[in-house]
Amino acid sequence: MNIGLIGFGNMGRAHAWSIENLKYYYAPLPFSAKITGICTAHGKTAADACARYGFGRIYASPKEMIEDPSIDVIDICTPNIFHYDTLKMAIQAGKHIYCEKPLCVSADEAFEIADLAGKSGKTCAVVFNTRFLLPVMRAKELVDAGRLGRILSFRGAFLHSSAADPEKNAGWKQNRDICGGGVLFDLGSHTIDLIQYLCGPFTEVSGMGQIAYPNRRGMDGDMWSTNADEAFYMTAKLSCGAGGTITVGKIMCGTNDDHSFEIYGERGSVRFDLMQPNFLWFYDNTAPEKERGYTRIECCGRYPAPGGVFPGVKAPIGWLRGHIGSMYNFLDGVHHGIAVSPSFDEAAHVQAVMEAAYRSDQTGCREAVRTI
Ligand SMILES: NC(=O)c1ccc[n+]([C@@H]2O[C@H](COP(=O)([O-])OP(=O)(O)OC[C@H]3O[C@@H](n4cnc5c(N)ncnc54)[C@H](O)[C@@H]3O)[C@@H](O)[C@H]2O)c1
Repeated sequence: MNIGLIGFGNMGRAHAWSIENLKYYYAPLPFSAKITGICTAHGKTAADACARYGFGRIYASPKEMIEDPSIDVIDICTPNIFHYDTLKMAIQAGKHIYCEKPLCVSADEAFEIADLAGKSGKTCAVVFNTRFLLPVMRAKELVDAGRLGRILSFRGAFLHSSAADPEKNAGWKQNRDICGGGVLFDLGSHTIDLIQYLCGPFTEVSGMGQIAYPNRRGMDGDMWSTNADEAFYMTAKLSCGAGGTITVGKIMCGTNDDHSFEIYGERGSVRFDLMQPNFLWFYDNTAPEKERGYTRIECCGRYPAPGGVFPGVKAPIGWLRGHIGSMYNFLDGVHHGIAVSPSFDEAAHVQAVMEAAYRSDQTGCREAVRTI
């Protein structure tokens, strides 16, 4: 599959990394996929990315890329207001599409696109990536198996602190003219998706947006009037009859990427917190009363594709992060011609400790650790 990537900011990089590493995570990969073209708002970003990552061709516009018959898949990682036009062109050109959230900036646009995509017969997906974290997959299994019973109540939250500092310039995600909405679009779309995915469709909502800092510097550094919600509070009813709340915001100091949900049913409940992505908390309300309490289910990599697979059932989320950090530390040392730590010297001392421990096991005595 030849993939054309549009937009190479944070998410463009995340998608490129994902495509590049699929072959290691899901081996043997039953298909091959490669980024063969890129388009960004600034030709230089695209040229740099091509030179750095070997993405093949630079396209002057999304249209030029979409018109290229050699491109099979269009991957959209641009700011939200650009999604609709790109999606429409890509559908009309018969491409498969992977599009970042939120799909569009209005329900009219989104339903039109969903209808066109359905008729195209091509594979189209939106990036609600949190669904693919193992605890969320486990929560879905428990809900589908009826372990929660009838769902009565839920509470979702997605809290950041990125707008908590009034001295910080606004980015495009705080600007309604580019984001299409505020934090409800940016973070809330993820939480709404999770609740809908796990509990079923929403039927009614009421909401309240909040702008805590009406004036701050804008993207160009000039004073600017905030035009999009910095926090949003929602109460909602679902078709299953459950009620609940969703709170999202970027003004919550002390938070980082605090995406969480709690779902309460008649038979049990689950809790998830993205900052602790290895675990799902499950409460079995059918257990004998004196044995009830939240079980912290260790999810790690225990599920088939698209679950864990590599680096293994026991590897916690983040394990590979240590490997990539280790490799960078080493190769950066090679590059700069400097010694790095953990050194062979440090490793020799580890060796000496282990050897002394074995000796002690054999002798039954305390053994000194040699130093050289
Ligand atoms: N799923 C997630 O976890 C997640 C996280 C962050 C952002 N997002 C979504 O990803 C999308 C991109 O966000 P980001 O954080 O990567 O933004 P970003 O600002 O870091 O990058 C945007 C990229 O789009 C390019 N671009 C802008 N206008 C363009 C145009 N008209 N044609 C071609 N390229 C254009 C820019 O040059 C830049 O490379 C947004 O829809 C956002 O909501 C998703």
